[in-house]
Formats: sequence, structure tokens, C-alpha cells
Amino acid sequence: MQRLARQWQRHGTRVGFVPTMGYLHEGHLCLARVARKRIGNSGKVVVSIYVNPTQFAPTEDLSRYPRDLKRDLSLCRSTGVDVVFVPADAGMYPGKAAGDFSTHVMEENLAGRMEGAARPTHFRGVTTVVAKLFNILLPDLAVFGAKDWQQAAIIKRMVSDLNFPVKIIVAPTVREADGVAMSSRNKYLVGNLRPQAVVLSAAIKQVRAMVKAATKPISSTRLRSLVTKMVSAAPDARLDYVEFFDPKTLLPQTRVTHGSHVALAVFIGKTRLIDNGRL
Ligand code: PAJ
Repeated sequence: MQRLARQWQRHGTRVGFVPTMGYLHEGHLCLARVARKRIGNSGKVVVSIYVNPTQFAPTEDLSRYPRDLKRDLSLCRSTGVDVVFVPADAGMYPGKAAGDFSTHVMEENLAGRMEGAARPTHFRGVTTVVAKLFNILLPDLAVFGAKDWQQAAIIKRMVSDLNFPVKIIVAPTVREADGVAMSSRNKYLVGNLRPQAVVLSAAIKQVRAMVKAATKPISSTRLRSLVTKMVSAAPDARLDYVEFFDPKTLLPQTRVTHGSHVALAVFIGKTRLIDNGRL
């Protein structure tokens, strides 16, 4: 893959890159469309599909993470993706089992909060694999989803701190008709669990409406208890965290106002979902 990418680079062919873990949905495909639009018809759009083991904790869903490569490839083809890069573990982390891998990329400020507090080794795995993918694919631009707001912020930080010559584009969250953010993990929501997933986007909407109606900033404590109440009304839902923060710095805000950002993680049964939005 790197040889091909270097060939493209020599010929002045620009590359737009969309990293994914597969089991593609409309959210992923939108990122590929944004990449195409930005890179033009003469450029190449590359989607990677790799369920990266280093961003999963031992207790998490690595082994049962949904996969359907055949369907993914056909979706990529019909979306006009030029190349789908599907590395194997043996290619990405050769010798890792034998301890033969010891360099990681770690963002040390933004990665400690929210998802990072809940999943301590997660972002180290993400930044390491994305750095590897950037080095393999040599993209001019890469598109990430606003669905994972903190991830996108950390990748931007990494690119800026480590001088990766890659422009990072963040594309809006794509939602189902009922407001639920599309996610490969929604597949886990069977029976009466799926309707309960609406609680995340409903909570964001409710908070947004309150902030919009208010004439002065609202305390995060008040909004947090509102969200807690809404989540606990769904029988199988459990709030992991809800944070109100500055969308650029990710610093928590105690006075929440127009332009603040909210992010939350909620267990629906055993499935952990995340969502976020601007207020
Ligand atoms: P994955 O969860 O497959 O997501 C791949 C990309 O799709 C991410 O940038 C994510 O933010 C975006 N995405 C997911 N759901 C979306 C939605 N509903 N609307 C818009 N964009 C959406 O995120 C990862 O994989 C991994 O951490 C990865 C970056 C590939 C590194 O392993």
C-alpha cells in the first residue's frame, strides 16, 4: 500500500483518506463523499477497514465487533471509493504478540477526559494506528466524523504537534430518522433496546432547547441532573458520563451557553453508545 501511495505522490495524484473499522453505514459513506468532493475526480479516495486491537481494552468488544467485508466492499464500490485498504493484524503489528512493538503515539492533554477517562488506553491505540495509517497512505487530507468529537480533536492535535502534512476535515454526524447517531455498534441493539437509544440525541436536543431559551448561561450541574433524569427514564439505559465543554479546547464548562458543546456516553443494556452536539 505504501509503495502505491508513493507512486501516486510521485505523479502528483492527491489522496483523500477515510479511516474506519468497517461494518460501514451511511455515516462512513458520507465521509467518503466529503473526501471525494475535497480531493476532486483526479485524486484518489482511500477507505481503510481495520478493527484496531490496540484501541480496545481487554474487557471490551474486540472479538465480537461486527464485520461484513463483502458488504463493505460493495458499499465502497457504489460510493466511488478508489481503494479499500484492509490490512491484517500481522501486517499492522507484526511481532506484537512477541513484544516486538514498542512505539506509541500519545496525546497527553485532550485524551485524558471523557472517552479517555472511561477508556484509559483507547486514544493511545487510536493515535498510534492513525499515525501508522497516515505513514502508509501519505494522504493529503483525511476525513473524520463529528460523531467522535474528542477523537477528531485529538487527531487534529497530533497532526499539528507532529507535523503530519495532512489536512483534517471533520464532517457532520449522520443520524437515523429518529435521531439516533449511526454507529456500527447499533447492531447490538436488538428488540426493545433499539428504541431506548433515542435517549442520547433526545437529551442533547432538550439541553439545546434549554440553552437556546435561556437569557444567561445555565449551570452544568443543573443540565447534568436533567440528562441523568432523562437517561434513567429509559429502563435499560445507564449514564456513563455527560460533559459540557468548549468545543475547541475540550475544557469543561460550569456555565453552559450558546456555542458550548455536550458529549455523553450511555450504556443501553451492555452496549455503550456515545453522542455529542453543539448547543
Ligand atoms: P469507526 O468507529 O469505524 O469510525 C470511522 C469514522 O467514521 C470516524 O471518523 C467516525 O467519527 C466516523 N463516524 C462514525 N459514525 C458516524 C456518523 N454517524 N456520522 C458521521 N461520521 C461517523 O473511529 C474509528 O472507527 C476508529 O477509531 C479509527 C479512527 C478508524 C481508528 O481505528
